[in-house]
Amino acid sequence: MTTTNTTDTTDSTGNSLLRPHAEQAFADELRALAAADDRPRPPSWRLSPWGVVTYLLGGTLPDGTVVSPKYVGPRRLMEVAVATLATDRALLLLGVPGTAKTWVSEHLSAAVCGASTLLVQGTSGTAEEAIRYGWNYARLLAEGPSEGALVPSPVMTAMRLGSIARVEELTRIPSDVQDALITVLSEKTLPVPELGMEVQAAKGFNVIATANDRDRGVNELSSALRRRFNTVVLPLPADEDEEVAIVTRRVEQLGAALELPAVPAAAQEVRRVVRVFRELRSGITADGRTKLKSPSGTLSTAEAISVITNGLALAAHFGDGVLRAADIAGAVLGAVVKDPVADGVVWTEYLEAVVREREDWADFYRACREVHA
Ligand SMILES: Nc1ncnc2c1ncn2[C@@H]1O[C@H](COP(=O)(O)OP(=O)(O)OP(=O)(O)O)[C@@H](O)[C@H]1O
Ligand SMILES: [Mg+2]
Repeated sequence: MTTTNTTDTTDSTGNSLLRPHAEQAFADELRALAAADDRPRPPSWRLSPWGVVTYLLGGTLPDGTVVSPKYVGPRRLMEVAVATLATDRALLLLGVPGTAKTWVSEHLSAAVCGASTLLVQGTSGTAEEAIRYGWNYARLLAEGPSEGALVPSPVMTAMRLGSIARVEELTRIPSDVQDALITVLSEKTLPVPELGMEVQAAKGFNVIATANDRDRGVNELSSALRRRFNTVVLPLPADEDEEVAIVTRRVEQLGAALELPAVPAAAQEVRRVVRVFRELRSGITADGRTKLKSPSGTLSTAEAISVITNGLALAAHFGDGVLRAADIAGAVLGAVVKDPVADGVVWTEYLEAVVREREDWADFYRACREVHA
């Protein structure tokens, strides 16, 4: 196990981290905000609700510190999310894939309690121990049930500390395991019958869960649990410019973190990928003239980000240092064509009916034809 220094982006051996947590990467901004924020803070919050929203959406502080925007989208949504966390109701972030649910959840917990790491990853194999507690079996056998043999879950730890616990992909968790959250959320206590004790949540404890719209029906949220959450639905970016802005910013950040050799910002390619994704997603061209079939993949903003990042790596290492259509064609194809038969047809139709007709897209058309024979 490595211990990390929370104000640094290197680990204890001095290796720089591949992906620092939000509270590490933005430690300076969080510190400046905490110093400038004189509004009332809910019990055990690091910032006021105003400070948390400013951290998420960006702004300039009185002392001149610039806070970078993390989330790009309606301010009201973030206000509702943050206000929820200040009440006794938990927060459920819902949306289609790639709408920044995980991203917002991480930044919210970093801003509210300075830690985004009390995390339960929901899968179909998530067991109750991940939400309640487990046992260190060696000690359990040696000593019998004791506090020392108890292995607390991230939720239990958050309750003790008065912090935020994050539950990712809540609807992938089997329903009976999900229900372990009900007592926690309504009674704010976690009984440990084996030891005849309970852990009562300290003020400041809350839960942020995320769930994917498309997975609905995998495991429905029970209505008892749903009632304990306020739901905030994160939308797809409103228009092309907004999506281009999101992709550009994240690609820059990722490129810097991965230390990719600098490739001149390729605004044209970013716009092209975003346009292709938006058109295929919505089933209609940007000018509203041509109806299209949509492929089976989600073509989310997150995928656009990885297509461009991939292209940058190709251009930097194998190209001429400029992001060209040929560097992104392969990744675009991979994102669009998930099912080789059905999606292959959709993509060919799009290439011939739309891409081919756009005069300034000739290089992209050629590159796409080459990889999609
Ligand atoms: N509106 C947005 N503002 C800022 N970043 C965004 C936005 N939409 C998407 N992103 C970026 O997209 C990437 C993917 O987001 P994230 O992993 O949080 O998606 P998700 O909603 O959790 O998807 P999934 O359902 O697949 O888990 C992140 O890097 C995030 O920065
Ligand atoms: Mg996610």
